Order: sequence, then structure tokens, then C-alpha cells
Amino acid sequence: MTVESTSEKVAVVTGSSSGIGQATAVELARRGYQVAIHYFRNEQGARDTYEKIRALGAGHARVYSCDVSDHAQAGQMAGDVLADFGRIDLLVNNAGSLVERRLFAGMDRDLWRRVMALNLDSVFYVTHAFLPTMIRQGSGCIVNVASIAGRNGGGLGASAYSSAKGAVVTLTKSLARELIGHGIRVNCVNPGVIATPFHERFSTREMLDRFIAGIPSGRLGAAEEVARVIAFLASEDACYVVGECVEINGGQLMD
Ligand SMILES: NC(=O)c1ccc[n+]([C@@H]2O[C@H](COP(=O)([O-])OP(=O)(O)OC[C@H]3O[C@@H](n4cnc5c(N)ncnc54)[C@H](OP(=O)(O)O)[C@@H]3O)[C@@H](O)[C@H]2O)c1
Repeated sequence: MTVESTSEKVAVVTGSSSGIGQATAVELARRGYQVAIHYFRNEQGARDTYEKIRALGAGHARVYSCDVSDHAQAGQMAGDVLADFGRIDLLVNNAGSLVERRLFAGMDRDLWRRVMALNLDSVFYVTHAFLPTMIRQGSGCIVNVASIAGRNGGGLGASAYSSAKGAVVTLTKSLARELIGHGIRVNCVNPGVIATPFHERFSTREMLDRFIAGIPSGRLGAAEEVARVIAFLASEDACYVVGECVEINGGQLMD
């Protein structure tokens, strides 16, 4: 599947078959990026993203699939994207999941490793695979999608997930410091409770009502509200924003 575009800027959005990633891929296409859409299991979701971009009447998109928690697959996907597009201007490390809510007392090594591999190791694998090209270009942007859970420990049963996301916040700052000299800006967003399939899977209606009661804005966030902040961080308007983690949570957690 291919949609044509005249822009030269290329964005890769991992996990863009659903939720925040899908909204981000569409927002970036609207702003003129060529977009590498990525999915793991939800091929239909990736097709929906592709169709939304096509409906804009602008933007060039292609679809890729891999398990980002697998080092070899992440490297293969990056190689395929670079072979097709020839460059990368923006990497959005968005793919991630709670995997399962489980209290720490019942945590086993396998679940801990799966959550870390998906939410933290994947950021290393995918970033590392694209980095030589960005360094060669002398330019690029990376936006990591962490979470409010990385700041406050998350809800019950999210110890591994919140630990991984906290590490993504820290990694963002380390990378930002190391890469700005190469012309590469690295930033991060910490979404609060955003209405996506994530919560359809991991949160009950009662949990969501409790979350909303603690959100000054009085509602859940929308995926598009996260997407627009990611697009801003990638834009020239944010050219002096480096190593920042932007909280997008309706006031649920204020620094
Ligand atoms: N929703 C929230 O309230 C919230 C809050 C804070 C942070 N976040 C973070 O925001 C990001 C997006 O979440 P979302 O709410 O949009 O969730 P979502 O709708 O469940 O989307 C998750 C995306 O990640 C992809 N993914 C999952 N496992 C993967 C794997 N092993 N390899 C490659 N891709 C994989 C999924 O691909 P397939 O479906 O194709 O398999 C999907 O595209 C995640 O990192 C999440 O932790 C979400």
C-alpha cells in the first residue's frame, strides 16, 4: 500500500495501528510528513490508518509490521523503512502496552521481562536501528511516548509497566544530551488517561470513573490531543525544546 506525497520529511510511528499512534500518524501526514505506519497484530488497524491518510489527499504512507520487543525484527523493520524512504526525520517510539494488570506480589520473571521488552527494550532496539542514519544526516527528532505511570507508579497492577515508562523518561534525557550535538532532538510525552483501546482492555468502567474524578479537566484525554503535542515537539516551533517530558493529563499530575 502506498500513498504519494511531495514532502521529503519522513516519520516513523511505531504502534500506529491504534489509539495514540494512529492519531499521530494521521496528524503528521496532515502536516506534510511521509509516514511509515507500523503495526504488530492489528493489520486492519494499520489499513485504517493508511485509509485515513489517503483520505487527506496528501501525504505518502507505507505499512510495516514487526514485534518491536524483538531485536532482530526491529532492525529488519528499520532496514525496510530506510530502503523504501531513504531517510528518517522523525521517530515516534509509541508502541507499548500494560500487557496485563498483575500485583507485584504475584509478578513472575516472564511477565516482568515481557513488559520491559515491549515498553523499554523496544525503544532501545528501534532507536538504535535508525540512529546511524540520523547521525549521518546530521538531523532528526525522536519523540518517546512514556506515561504518567512513569511519574506516579500507575494504577494497581502496573509496577513493571510504570518502571519501564519511568526508564523511558530517563532514557529520553540521556539520549537528548548525547544526540543534540548531532542535530538530533529527543523529547518525550507522558500521556495521562487517554481514551484508546488500551483502556478498553485494561481498565473497568469503575476504574475509569475513579480516574476521571481525579482529573481537574473532568474527562479522559483524546488520542488526537496527544498527537498534536507530539507533532509540536517534532516541529521547528520546538527547536529549542530538548530532553523535555511533556505531561498531557488534563491536570491529573502537575509538576
Ligand atoms: N491510553 C493511555 O491512557 C496511555 C497513557 C499513557 C501512555 N500510553 C502509551 O501510549 C502508547 C500507545 O498506547 P494506546 O493507548 O494508543 O494503546 P493501543 O491503542 O493499545 O495501541 C498500542 C499500539 O502498540 C502496538 N504494539 C503492542 N505490542 C506491540 C509489539 N510487541 N510490537 C509492536 N507493536 C506493538 C499495537 O500494535 P498492534 O495492535 O498492531 O499489535 C498498537 O498499535 C503506549 O506506549 C502506551 O503505553 C497510553
